[in-house]
Amino acid sequence: MARRTEIICSHLPRCRVFADVGCDHGYMAQYALRQGLCERAYITDISAESLKKAESHLRREIERGVCIPVCTDGLKGLPETPDCVLIAGMGGAEIVRILEGSGIPGAFVLQPMANPEKVRAFLSRHGCLVTEDYTFRDGRWYDLIAGRRTGGEPYTEFEILFGRGNLRAPSEAFLSKLKKEEKKLRRQLTVPALSAKNREKLRQRLTLLEAVTDAIEEDL
Ligand SMILES: C[S@@+](CC[C@H](N)C(=O)[O-])C[C@H]1O[C@@H](n2cnc3c(N)ncnc32)[C@H](O)[C@@H]1O
Repeated sequence: MARRTEIICSHLPRCRVFADVGCDHGYMAQYALRQGLCERAYITDISAESLKKAESHLRREIERGVCIPVCTDGLKGLPETPDCVLIAGMGGAEIVRILEGSGIPGAFVLQPMANPEKVRAFLSRHGCLVTEDYTFRDGRWYDLIAGRRTGGEPYTEFEILFGRGNLRAPSEAFLSKLKKEEKKLRRQLTVPALSAKNREKLRQRLTLLEAVTDAIEEDL
């Protein structure tokens, strides 16, 4: 199992009904079922082709009736509400759109590929309790956000931008991600043809990142 898949799966809580949305190959639902983390798992994908891959990996579980494949957008049309939902490998805006449509599940594990700040702002706005919110590295960088529907404290603006866990306990992975972006911004700022407006935007972002990395390095 790839390190990314392993890390994501390590955050899956025990539940009765699990759903792996955008399951593609279905490895994560397979993990949940084989580890006995849930009684049954819905695997959904908007692409029939992708769902076929999962159906072939999970053939035995589907035959036993503990895995139910559904070709759908997000969680639309499921016959019951899952206790725990995993959405990994999609953009943050898409994750928010899916959760807005279905309602926030009792427990969730989310791994946005882009715009994690949209996911954090959404969860914070709805009072969710975020128990994990950090960046990890497996070749590239990934954000992992897990928690429960209720009981959370609102996020600050900085926490929304960078992740509460990253700010409270900064990791090497998080620091290296910031430094890589800083390097990219410095390179972009050397381009002479940059408009004044874009130059200002890049400068502001760089100043913000430098403030965060300086604060982290002072604490290390
Ligand atoms: C990059 S794959 C991620 C697969 C797996 N979840 C993972 O993290 O390794 C994204 C999958 O999400 C599916 N997908 C995209 N938008 C979706 C939606 N709105 N509802 C269900 N599945 C969706 C795609 O068809 C694709 O199979």
